[in-house]
Parts: sequence; structure tokens; C-alpha cells
Amino acid sequence: MKVLGIDIGGSAFKGAPVDTKTGKLLAERLRVEIAAPCPTAHGLAAAREIARHFNWQGPVGIGFPGIILGDRIDAVGNLGHNWENKDGAALFGRATRGKVRLFNDADAAGLAEMKFGAGKGHQGSVLMLTFGTGIGSALFYRGQLMPNIEFGHIPWKGKPIEHYASAAAKKRHHLSWKKWARCVNVFFEVAERLCSPELIIIGGGVSKQSDKWFKYLKARARIVPAKMHNDAGIVGAALAWEQAAR
Ligand code: BGC
Repeated sequence: MKVLGIDIGGSAFKGAPVDTKTGKLLAERLRVEIAAPCPTAHGLAAAREIARHFNWQGPVGIGFPGIILGDRIDAVGNLGHNWENKDGAALFGRATRGKVRLFNDADAAGLAEMKFGAGKGHQGSVLMLTFGTGIGSALFYRGQLMPNIEFGHIPWKGKPIEHYASAAAKKRHHLSWKKWARCVNVFFEVAERLCSPELIIIGGGVSKQSDKWFKYLKARARIVPAKMHNDAGIVGAALAWEQAAR
């Protein structure tokens, strides 16, 4: 099946048509820059631009950086509270003129990694983490997703722990890879205490530079970089659309 996958992050909306059978992009992806917090009108315009660029008229799967309950956007991290309590499927449906289904962005990326990437065939407990503006998390057991896990929002020193250990925090505080890895290790310690995964898959832009920081990481679980890197969110949003249709 062909689904337009859109992955929404704190710095850009990225989208491409996806073949859900192979997990491959059918065209080069389009990236539309935004700045977080992002006014609703800007975000909808970015989604519209992506759908128009591909002249898209079919189904649209969206990975959104917040809790998604059915069609409704619940709590939102960095994109802005203005998105909360909205019917996301209806809003993005009007913008893209497609049949839209919404999912948490990390859940979508995790689905793609479990089907085509670093988690393929893994039957135990797997924690997918995406490091970007926030920290996204997706938890799988025997290949099944427990949706809307929000480990990035565990309180740490009075703030969500993603403010301390995300890739954006590395940039904001000008941390070296080694110093930032210490913050990530604190996050791992907390996350492992809560769910004891056997495998941790690390995604987000920084996963492409795993040679620079994975050597400093400490966890009980085996840690591997995502295989699909930046495409995971787009492919996963398309996969999730298809799964939900079954
Ligand atoms: C949001 C999550 C999202 C993560 C990565 C967090 O701020 O609360 O829902 O998965 O950022 O985008």
C-alpha cells in the first residue's frame, strides 16, 4: 500500500510517499522547516505544502510529537500547547485533503525499526528512543507496541528529563559528546529502572554519529543505533496508518 508519511519534529515537518510493504520511500523526502513552539496555522501550512508537493490524494499517516488518543491530540511537549485537545485527524485532513491518521512520532519510528530496522525479529522487550528537540520513547514486547509511553517527561530536577538529556539540551548547553553522554546515562538509569528492556534502539539525527558517543553509554540493555535513521518516522507513520486500517 502507498501512504504519505509525515514526521513532525521540533525543527521541521518531513514527508514522503512510502511503500508499506518494503518500507522504502517512493520519492525523495521533502523537509519544511518550522520553529518550535509552532503556531497551528504554520504547522498545517507545512503539512499542506508536503501533500501538494507530492500531488497526494491518498491516505496520510502522521507522526506527531505528543500523546495521541484516537484522533485527538492530548499533551504536547515542544511543539506548543496550542495543539492540545484538537481533533488532529480533522485538522490535518483538511490541510492535506487526505484520510489522516495520527500517531505519536516515537511510536511510529519504533514500528518502522521493529519491522525493517534494528529491532527486526526481536521478540523480547525493546525500547526505542529518539533524541532530538525532545526524547521520544516507544516500548515493545513480543513485537507489540504499548502506545504513548512518555519517558522524556519523567520529572528530573523539577523539569521533564528531556530538558536535560535531549539532543537539543546538548546543543543548548554546548556539551561535548562525552559530557552529554553522562546526561543520557542518567536518563537510561531511570528508564531501565522503570521497564528493564533487553534492547535499546537509539534514533534521531544524533544516531548517525553513534561512533562519537555510544562508547560512553552505560546501560544493562544492549544499545544499538537505529538503522533507518531519519526515515524511520516517515516510514513508521505510513506503517501505522496501514496497521490501524486492518
Ligand atoms: C513529546 C513526545 C515525543 C518526543 C519526541 C516529547 O516532548 O512529549 O510525545 O515523542 O518529544 O518528539
